Amino acid sequence: MHPGLLIAFEGIDGTGKSTQLPLLAAHLRERGLVVVETREPTDGPYGQQIRALYRNRSQVSPERELELFLLDRRQHVAECIRPALDRGEVVLTDRYYFSTAAYQGAAGCDPAHVFACHDFAPEPDLVLLLTLPVEEGIARIRTLRGETLNDFEQREQLEKVAALFASFTHSCIVRIHAARPMEEVQASIRAAVQQLLVRKGG
Ligand code: TYD
Repeated sequence: MHPGLLIAFEGIDGTGKSTQLPLLAAHLRERGLVVVETREPTDGPYGQQIRALYRNRSQVSPERELELFLLDRRQHVAECIRPALDRGEVVLTDRYYFSTAAYQGAAGCDPAHVFACHDFAPEPDLVLLLTLPVEEGIARIRTLRGETLNDFEQREQLEKVAALFASFTHSCIVRIHAARPMEEVQASIRAAVQQLLVRKGG
């Protein structure tokens, strides 16, 4: 057990995780909490290898891909997440092991096996799973970010990823409808976090 709080943002690409996370961080800081904002894949050596694969995914097997995400996460947990939780801070991470179960699950790994590989990773206090029709996620990536889809974001693949995210029943997961104005989505996120803080007595 640790005195901190671990909150993970999850969901398919284009749901707005990286917009919503800093807004929540600012809100929690205003309330006097110490907040660490982080993300996966990380900027560390394994995270960089993963990013290099974005457009060349066929170069690696699904098993090697899973291995890289696990190596990246091990380092992230050891060097960033666990120390912050031990200091009693609030860690907000843009993606965590539910992404691995969903994305590498969609690539052919057994999601149950993926979850079982994470005995080293602290269980989140809250997973904010942002939900959005795949079609809309793709449209947002194209129009808002002006990007084409990388290999992790191909349509058929994303449908499988979304179906896996929808199948997870962990009690830490709260689903947030992301096909709404940014402020409304943020309000739902804050309400879920408020419930967590009340539950934890903070
Ligand atoms: P993303 O959050 O989109 O990062 P960025 O916005 O910095 O590019 O994540 C990159 C991709 O990596 C995304 O399509 C999902 C994928 N991914 C996995 O397949 N498995 C994982 O465990 C994680 C963390 C991400």
